[in-house]
Amino acid sequence: MGCKKNALAALIGSVCMACAAQVLAEPSAKMLADTCAGCHGTNGQSVGPAIPNLAGMSESYFVDSMKGYKKLEKGATHGEDARPATIMNRIAKGYSDAQIDAMGAYFAAMPVYKANVPHDAAKAKAGAAVYDKACAKCHDEGGSLASDDAGILAGQWLPWLEYSMADFKSGHREMPKKMKKQVDALSDAELTDVLHYFASQK
Ligand code: HEC
Ligand code: HEC
Repeated sequence: MGCKKNALAALIGSVCMACAAQVLAEPSAKMLADTCAGCHGTNGQSVGPAIPNLAGMSESYFVDSMKGYKKLEKGATHGEDARPATIMNRIAKGYSDAQIDAMGAYFAAMPVYKANVPHDAAKAKAGAAVYDKACAKCHDEGGSLASDDAGILAGQWLPWLEYSMADFKSGHREMPKKMKKQVDALSDAELTDVLHYFASQK
């Protein structure tokens, strides 16, 4: 009898040790990622209208983005390997590289989320041809293939797509060379159409 009681006491003791260890340990990837929900939505599913969805993006694209944000100097609009931002540069600086890696794996494990994005159906239809010709090679499956490591464009909020494109076009954010070649060859109307096409993907 006494023996059993001691075993129980030992068990309770070890459970409590485990609780204490958890409180003292590094925050989990979920705890870190939950701090993003106020802006990026629960589980990286943004409710819009302009903040991007994070769910399902590849770990490598996520990590490159966060490290690019971290590199942006205070007051700068661009810099070497840096990504322009209105707010993410300040947020990204609050996380260690290990914490960024952990969040990257966490969001990458989620299914890609395609939001119900308001868009112009006629423009989206016209944009499908532009997409096939100029973007499909690197943004496969309507821009929903995470392993392209080029962000998730399918079902992505239109103002965010427009903002990203404006940053690329102005040179604030560096465009991959081959993407620039395709983008530069398009008229403004074609470029608008293809962004509506991405936004329309379900
Ligand atoms: C206060 C609102 C806010 C919070 C909180 C926030 N973000 Fe952001 N996030 C933005 C905005 C706005 C952008 C667009 C870039 C910019 O202007 O800063 C963005 C862009 C991003 C992008 C780029 C997405 C893409 O498709 O290229 C990533 C990655 C990202 N955020 C990750 C995070 C993570 C991880 C957290 C939590 C640790 C977080 N964000 C918290 C507002 C926020
Ligand atoms: C040669 C490959 C390639 C081609 C072609 C290409 N892209 Fe990209 N695109 C990329 C890569 C790689 C990234 C990620 C770049 C980065 O973050 O530095 C990207 C990023 C983007 C982004 C930003 C996503 C985000 O979440 O911030 C948009 C928008 C975009 N591309 C639109 C287009 C459009 C529209 C076309 C066709 C006109 C196109 N791309 C053609 C490779 C390509």
